Amino acid sequence: MTARIISGTAIARQITEEVRADVAELKSRHGVTPGLATVLVGDDPASHVYVTAKVKACLDIGIYSERHDLPGYTPEDDLLALIDKLNKDPRIHGILVQSPPPPHINENRVVCAIDPRKDVDGFHPVSVGRMVIGEPGFLPCTPRGVQVLLERSGIETVGAEVVVVGRSNIIGKPVANILLQKAKGANATVTVCHSATRNIAEHTRRADILITAIGRPKFITADMVKEGAVVIDIGINEIGRTPEGKRILTGDVDFEAVKEKASAITPVPGGAGPMTIVILMSNTIKAAKMAAGVQ
Ligand code: GUN
Repeated sequence: MTARIISGTAIARQITEEVRADVAELKSRHGVTPGLATVLVGDDPASHVYVTAKVKACLDIGIYSERHDLPGYTPEDDLLALIDKLNKDPRIHGILVQSPPPPHINENRVVCAIDPRKDVDGFHPVSVGRMVIGEPGFLPCTPRGVQVLLERSGIETVGAEVVVVGRSNIIGKPVANILLQKAKGANATVTVCHSATRNIAEHTRRADILITAIGRPKFITADMVKEGAVVIDIGINEIGRTPEGKRILTGDVDFEAVKEKASAITPVPGGAGPMTIVILMSNTIKAAKMAAGVQ
């Protein structure tokens, strides 16, 4: 079997047109322009690329954006003061602090300082709690993007064996929680594997839907995948640079070998990545609607 390639780029493009229309309507009917503030501390090149893509997406669909790039030595108190200012700014409906911050900054303290009504990343404990108990709220962008990718590709999750490899707070834990919910586009039997799992392959081979967020290039080999499985690769690993200095990226999955066994697979780049940004836009619009009391 050769897998169908699930294009996150194509699906994200479709959703971009939907959110563009949403923004236009919010402006014309309600006089509300959604606003997103991005905060980046330090000069991690990958984080820089991601924040630039987020700001560009705002510009493209008509969301007001404010970019705060701070030097790596910024004291935590200065960062907290900026968040406090953004919390009070009525033009700003969403606040995103790019992760990871430099080591002297306590990320949890920073996330907790964001007003939960502006937590478009879905990382605040209030958002995490709502997600776990299945209450409406902001869902983290990449995990929610995976759910939408599955829905729009016609892949059934109800009753499916989903195996998630990786247990980070940004990807592994939330994607497992989202797909576990008793809800449409979820209701799966979810297993989470991690660095202390005794035999990862034993679990991954049972998966109808295998989701990987490990950060190790080509960790998932063909012998770890069941014939006909759906494989969603969230890994973004830089394996080198082109002579022009462009990053060469690969996922957690040995794509060429696994695509001969899977029924559907996401590429890296162009899989889960583009979905992250479009969900961030959608969360920002939702925050603006909530602030304006618009349904
Ligand atoms: N770093 C990697 N992914 C993300 C994300 O979705 N949001 C933020 N804020 N930082 C990240």
